[in-house]
Amino acid sequence: LHNDKITINIVDRNRKTHTVQANVDDTILDVVIDNQLDFESYGVCEGTVACSTCHVIFNQEVYDTLEEPLMDEMDMLDLACGLTETSRLGCQVHITKEMEGMTVKLPEEITDARDL
Ligand code: FES
Repeated sequence: LHNDKITINIVDRNRKTHTVQANVDDTILDVVIDNQLDFESYGVCEGTVACSTCHVIFNQEVYDTLEEPLMDEMDMLDLACGLTETSRLGCQVHITKEMEGMTVKLPEEITDARDL
């Protein structure tokens, strides 16, 4: 598998853009880890849907192509800081070919739901 790679842009909390390679079917969290992007506290629960620190904001066009979030993702998103209409958890969203060239943003602030 993993032969298909696309390029995406991730805007970090300091508004710096990182252009990285992403394997189709990996999660956004996997992409952050694989590219050794040093986003403080990003994905601290390692994708177990317990922290909401992996919150990312999509543009509307890409957001509309995503599968609906499951209940546990929705519950965790409710606790995320700076929630938007196009917010998702990076550990739950998988890369698709349609995402080629997209830009996702990290919110300016994060909350670790485990601290609430
Ligand atoms: Fe914790 Fe996604 S990594 S909810």
